Amino acid sequence: MANYKLVATAAMGLEAIVAQEVQALGYTTTVENGKVYFEGDETAIARANLWLRVADRVKIVVGQFPAKSFEQLFESVKALPWEKYLPVDASFPVSGKSVKSKLFSVPDCQAITKKAIVERMKQHYKRLGFLDESGATYKIEVSILKDVATLTIDTSGAGLHKRGYRQAQGEAPLKETLAAALVQISKWNPNRPFVDPFCGSGTIALEAAMYGQNIAPGYNREFISESWPWMKAKIWDAVRDEADSIANYDQPLEIIGSDIDHRMVSIAQENALEAGFGDIITFKQMQARDFTTQLTDGVMIGNPPYGERIGDVEVVEQVIRDLGQVMKNYPTWSVYMLSSMKNFEELYGRQTTKKRKLFNGFIETNYYQYWGQKSKRD
Ligand SMILES: C[S@@+](CC[C@H](N)C(=O)[O-])C[C@H]1O[C@@H](n2cnc3c(N)ncnc32)[C@H](O)[C@@H]1O
Repeated sequence: MANYKLVATAAMGLEAIVAQEVQALGYTTTVENGKVYFEGDETAIARANLWLRVADRVKIVVGQFPAKSFEQLFESVKALPWEKYLPVDASFPVSGKSVKSKLFSVPDCQAITKKAIVERMKQHYKRLGFLDESGATYKIEVSILKDVATLTIDTSGAGLHKRGYRQAQGEAPLKETLAAALVQISKWNPNRPFVDPFCGSGTIALEAAMYGQNIAPGYNREFISESWPWMKAKIWDAVRDEADSIANYDQPLEIIGSDIDHRMVSIAQENALEAGFGDIITFKQMQARDFTTQLTDGVMIGNPPYGERIGDVEVVEQVIRDLGQVMKNYPTWSVYMLSSMKNFEELYGRQTTKKRKLFNGFIETNYYQYWGQKSKRD
């Protein structure tokens, strides 16, 4: 087994949660804007892909160096040990980005990076002609920030938010990674009831269920690095077996999702069935203001509509007001709502215990948090 410098990429504002997840897997982390660095072997690559709920991708950092000229970029890329990762038949598309840097032409940076890797490979593998690139794919990125280039290889393939359960989606589904973050921030644990009164396609409820039963979010999908010769099948088998053995499929869960729109309820049910939670999560059609429960110490998490369309704002404002009124009846419940509405607290009728700025895609939102009276089940 070799040792790799790895990076788990994360949406802005979620780095600290991803760092906690990486640490929980037993690795030491360094956090930078949107990036959580750690080191590990092939098993670490497989485990990170399988287990990280909030990260976007896991990449190998091949090298990092100053790049102020194309020549410097070419020579530094060529000096990196690409043969350690890429076999002679590797197919290696290069993507790029450049921010606040002298080398701002991304197509040129990509072309130069590609050329430098080809040169290195031809020398190492003693090839005179072209490389046929008929083998497994290694997606390489050259990312230049303030004249420093970072060269990475993506080990995930499709983004880690693709868990494999989403059959259908509603109008504005949350990304699974963000939904998982909302659950983790809430400190919900499976001994407490959970409700999403604006469940849409059911993303938050599904993420809570997987978290509650300690099911690895990547258990039912494939990763691009599974096709690499040195990421052997036995590594993946061992990591999946480990995941299977520590999943707690018998953990009882009290998870309910509801939505005003019955079409959404059907979509959520379909997704739950696909994820294996068909009998575990209850989805029903209901208006948020009709919420009622005998249970105590619950956690309510949701993202109500934002009222972005003209004419919708008043309706959405009333929905929030009603929710605030209803939840007065349940003082032991904690309520967590992700919303872009700046006047959310005013509408809800209470100041939050805490709020946290988070981005839902490009929309700036706040995660409004109302902690319930101290819970017996914490
Ligand atoms: C932003 S979406 C939630 C998306 C969801 N988190 C997902 O991942 O699919 C808001 C949802 O609130 C629902 N909704 C709107 N008004 C409602 C109300 N008064 N009561 C309950 N649900 C409502 C909409 O039908 C929509 O599905």
